[in-house]
Amino acid sequence: MSDKKYMKRALELAMNGCGFVNPNPMVGAVIVKDKEIIGEGYHEAYGMFHAERNAIKNCKKSPKGATIYVTLEPCCHYGKTPPCTKAIIESGISKVVIGSLDPNPLVAGKGIEILRNNNIEVVEGVLKEECDCINEVFFHYIKTKTPYVVMKYAMTMDGKIATYTGKSKWITGDTSRKRVHKDRHKYSGIMVGVETVLLDDPMLNCRLENSKNPTRIICDTNLRTPINCQIVNTANKIPTIIATSNADKEKQKLYVDKGCRIVVVPKKDNHIDLKELMYMLGKEKMDSILLEGGGTLNWSALQSGIVNKVQTYIAPKIFGGEKAKSPISGLGVNCPQESFYLSNIKVTKIDEDILIESEVVSKCSQE
Ligand SMILES: NC(=O)c1ccc[n+]([C@@H]2O[C@H](COP(=O)([O-])OP(=O)(O)OC[C@H]3O[C@@H](n4cnc5c(N)ncnc54)[C@H](OP(=O)(O)O)[C@@H]3O)[C@@H](O)[C@H]2O)c1
Repeated sequence: MSDKKYMKRALELAMNGCGFVNPNPMVGAVIVKDKEIIGEGYHEAYGMFHAERNAIKNCKKSPKGATIYVTLEPCCHYGKTPPCTKAIIESGISKVVIGSLDPNPLVAGKGIEILRNNNIEVVEGVLKEECDCINEVFFHYIKTKTPYVVMKYAMTMDGKIATYTGKSKWITGDTSRKRVHKDRHKYSGIMVGVETVLLDDPMLNCRLENSKNPTRIICDTNLRTPINCQIVNTANKIPTIIATSNADKEKQKLYVDKGCRIVVVPKKDNHIDLKELMYMLGKEKMDSILLEGGGTLNWSALQSGIVNKVQTYIAPKIFGGEKAKSPISGLGVNCPQESFYLSNIKVTKIDEDILIESEVVSKCSQE
C-alpha cells in the first residue's frame, strides 16, 4: 500500500469520532511495519486518548521501527492527556507521516520539530486537502474561539422555505432529511429564531441511532418562546439555551424551572447581538452551530458576519405565492454589487434533491 492508502484508512478511522470529540479535532492513526498494519486508533471522545496513543495501545506487534500515519500533526503539550509526541518517541516509531498541520498555537509545527529533534523522520502534507476538510470546524474554532456557523435551509425550486400559509413540512425527501440529522449529530449546537418556534413548534433533536443531540439555542430577544412548546417541555433531557435580552428574573425562572438555560445577551438593532452571543458560546467550548433559520434570523446572521458556510437543499417542487417566505429575508442588499460572496461550491445530488454547499467569503466588493 502507498502512503496515500494508509492515510485514507487513517481518515476513515478519524470520521468515527464525528460528533463526539468537539471541540477537539477528529483524528485517525494507522501504524505500519513491514507493509502490514499492526495498529489502528482514533480520537474517540473529548477528554479521551488521542488517535496516536490509541493506535500504539492497539498494536499487535512492537511498533519499534514502524511508521505511523496520522491525519493531524501530533500534539506536544499537556492538555486533558499527555503529549502524543512523547508516546511516539517512547514507542520507538521511526517515521511519522502527517496529513494536516495543527493550527493550535500550542502545537503549530512544534510537534514536528520535537519529532525531528528525536531523530524521527517526518513526512508532511499527505492527503492534506482531505485531512484539512474533515476539521474545518476545529481549524476555525481554535483560531477564533467562536463557533463555526453553518446556515442550512431547504427550499423549493422557486426559492420558498414555506407555503404562503407558513407550512414547511416537508420540502425535501427522506434522504436529505437524514443527512440533516447527521449534521445535527456532528455540530455542537442548533440555532433558530423565535418565530420558527412559534410557527412550527419544532423539536430540533437528532433522530438517528447512536447519535447525540446538539444544544438547542433559541434567539428570543423578549422571551416570547411559548412555555409549553416542545423544546421547553424537553429541556430537562436535551440541553436548551434561550438567548435573550429580557432581564426579567421572574419570567426567566419559568423557563429555568423547566430545564432551560438563559443566556442574557446585549441588544443590537432591537434584537440580541449575534456576534456577542457567538463569543459567549465560544467561551463555553461550543465549536459549531447549525443555523436552521428562518429567514429573518438568517439575514441578521449573514449581516453580522457570523456565518461560515451555507448549505442549500433544493427540492424539485414549486410553491409560488408572493407571501411565501424565502430563506433569507430582512431588508436585503440594494444592488448586486453588494451581494454576499460565496466560494468553494460543492454540489451533491441526493435522490431527487440537490445540495449546494459553499463558504461565505465576504460581502462582494466587485464593480
Ligand atoms: N425550510 C426551511 O429550511 C426552514 C427553516 C427554518 C424556518 N423555516 C420557516 O421560516 C418561518 C419563520 O421565519 P421568520 O423569518 O418569520 O422568523 P425567524 O427567523 O424564525 O425568527 C425571527 C425572530 O427571531 C428573533 N431574533 C432574535 N435575535 C435576532 C436577531 N439578531 N436577528 C433577527 N431576529 C432575531 C426576532 O424576534 P425577537 O426580536 O422578538 O426575538 C425575530 O422576529 C417559518 O414559517 C418556518 O417554517 C423554514
